[in-house]
Amino acid sequence: MVAKRSTKRFHALSRSTTMNLGALPLLWALLLATGCDKMRGDSSKSSAAPTPNSKTTGELPPKDPTPEPTTVLIGEYGSLTGSEATFGQSTHNGIILGLEEQNTQGGVKGKKVELKTYDDQGKTQEAGTAVTRLINDDKVVAIIGEVASSLSLAGGAVAQKYGVPMVSPSSTNMRVTMVGDKIFRVCFIDQFQGYVVAKFARENLKTAKVAVLYDQASAYSKGLKDDFKKAFVDIGGQVPTEQAYDAGATDFSAQLTSIRATNPDAIFLPGYYTDVGNIAVQARKLGIKVPFLGGDGWDSAKLAEIGGAAIEGSYYSNHYSHEEQRPEVQEFVRKYSAKFGQVPDGLAALGYDAAKILFHAIERSPSLSGADIALALAQTKDFHGVTGIITIDKDRNAQKPAVMLQVKGGKPTYVATIEPSK
Ligand code: PHE
Repeated sequence: MVAKRSTKRFHALSRSTTMNLGALPLLWALLLATGCDKMRGDSSKSSAAPTPNSKTTGELPPKDPTPEPTTVLIGEYGSLTGSEATFGQSTHNGIILGLEEQNTQGGVKGKKVELKTYDDQGKTQEAGTAVTRLINDDKVVAIIGEVASSLSLAGGAVAQKYGVPMVSPSSTNMRVTMVGDKIFRVCFIDQFQGYVVAKFARENLKTAKVAVLYDQASAYSKGLKDDFKKAFVDIGGQVPTEQAYDAGATDFSAQLTSIRATNPDAIFLPGYYTDVGNIAVQARKLGIKVPFLGGDGWDSAKLAEIGGAAIEGSYYSNHYSHEEQRPEVQEFVRKYSAKFGQVPDGLAALGYDAAKILFHAIERSPSLSGADIALALAQTKDFHGVTGIITIDKDRNAQKPAVMLQVKGGKPTYVATIEPSK
């Protein structure tokens, strides 16, 4: 257990081991017996390793100081299982690709980068627990995560409290980075995304009336619904009804029947792919023929698996398309496909960009303290990422174009790019 190598493994929280203070004398004896070499580069050793930003005290025995860690340990939390599993899995793959490249080029600050990952199963409470463990048990210097905004809000509150920088690759709800000055993201926010879909619906699809169906417990879904509505009404559109659902529900017929009664031109559905697929299937059974419109939460190969013909022809906004001809995109698609045997989705691209931006920031940072790394992150400027040119603004967000995709033959197909207007 002590010398467990965990760099590339998924960890279910329930199966991870915690080290409590009572176990430390024994642990220390074991470490001395096995020798320090075994500990080097071991990402689960950290209860015995001093780090600059540790807020815990009294964990180290007074003598025999452990040498400076020879690696830089980064934390990751994400939904590797559950109904948003592809979010966590794709992001993890993207991070791993970025990390391996970084290590091939000498790591950061002359040290190898290692990653400790926890599976939060897409659950808010697990997200908070995962971040607490990354900080207190593993002593990571910075954290990448989460995808879902509600989970980034939960995890971000913990990271901010301990002063450990967190970079969300893909959480788009405005409030995520408002948690505090240690919380960053490398993606656009929902105010922009809502505008993108509204503009596309109005100008490209010429819709006048768009009904809305959203997940009432999701910060992302609620926020994006409001942002879309505002933008759509601003440019002369009409939202005849607004219905709410619970994630994971199996029967959406009441909401869909109410929507059908308003005879809309399209239905805006800012949810995550599993619910979206199920809702589309039920809508078609109820005779609803108009296209669905959505946001980045649709981004999963599972969407078409679940939604099948019901989701065919519908549109959603996203952070990138694998069909873009920019060299950054094409090179990433080639490397990722060769390694993982699948075409990378937007989450993979954002995970990769988040990892790269974090490594570059750590490289520029004068120390491994949370304060220094956060300052370096804040200075990120014109980084040529796979998902666009990334500059971190004063609110710790990134302003980038979005793409509109259409589900065609079960595949996300590039339709348009929409630039930030201001
Ligand atoms: N933007 C979504 C959220 O904030 C997460 C997401 C990003 C999902 C990109 C898929 C692709 O909850």
